[in-house]
Amino acid sequence: MPNALVTGAGSGIGQAIAARLVREGFRVWVSDLEPIRAEQVGKALGMPHLAVDVTSRSALEEAARHIFASDHRLDVLVANAGVSTMNPFLELSEEEWDFNFAVNAKGTFLTLQTFARQMAQQPLMTGREVRGKLIATASMAARQAAPLLAHYSASKFAVLGLVQAIAKELAPLQLTVNAVNPGFVQTQMQEREVAWEARLRGLSPQAVLKDYVRQTPLGRLQRPEDVAAAVAFLVGPDSDFITGEAMEVNGGAWIF
Ligand SMILES: NC(=O)c1ccc[n+]([C@@H]2O[C@H](COP(=O)([O-])OP(=O)(O)OC[C@H]3O[C@@H](n4cnc5c(N)ncnc54)[C@H](O)[C@@H]3O)[C@@H](O)[C@H]2O)c1
Repeated sequence: MPNALVTGAGSGIGQAIAARLVREGFRVWVSDLEPIRAEQVGKALGMPHLAVDVTSRSALEEAARHIFASDHRLDVLVANAGVSTMNPFLELSEEEWDFNFAVNAKGTFLTLQTFARQMAQQPLMTGREVRGKLIATASMAARQAAPLLAHYSASKFAVLGLVQAIAKELAPLQLTVNAVNPGFVQTQMQEREVAWEARLRGLSPQAVLKDYVRQTPLGRLQRPEDVAAAVAFLVGPDSDFITGEAMEVNGGAWIF
């Protein structure tokens, strides 16, 4: 049975990715900053769980030791953990900038590096020409920056730069590296953002949500499962020759 680790899997998109990978036949390590969330999702899926703060190299190395001692390899890594805050650029604090960069940019770097070091040494996946597959959850905001999200957008642009560079570096080691870029997804992160945006723009939360749908040509808010479906493709055999790619999963809200 192939295995996978999903970070930030205690909620929202990560939770949906973990559930989808279980359906695809993976043994999934469910990890989150919040131990209780990791445990709840892990138990619900009948899968192992780990509390991991992706901003901590030592916590990631401990998780890697644990997973490799148990399974001796990691086929799929989904670096999904992320945070957001919202503020006008002229009022943005250094703390907010640092928080978004610590989790989204540095956390993704540390996660990918810690596990890629180990995955580079494992045999190829069964019946495949790749040793393992790495996925990062970036964002539509990594393509098209949005007002009130300068710091978040910049941190997600960093994720795509990282993915492109390391896709080239790790390809000779038979590791692929890709990203998914979600749009307006119904999660707890979105609930927080809607409340902030409503206050900052002087709108009702309903009006903010209506605006998200208006910006989405396919005409509805995105579900976490929409993102999980793209991840299922990116970890499956049909995408084994794709690396350095970022898949837009946004209902047409941003088209290259
Ligand atoms: N919701 C959206 O509209 C949207 C859009 C584009 C991109 N994204 C990205 O998708 C990913 C998941 O977002 P979501 O909407 O599911 O958010 P969410 O807040 O619902 O879930 C995020 C999870 O990550 C965990 N987390 C936070 N900091 C962590 C850390 N330091 N270490 C480990 N885990 C940590 C949280 O505890 C939480 O369980 C994030 O990278 C986010 O930036 C979300």
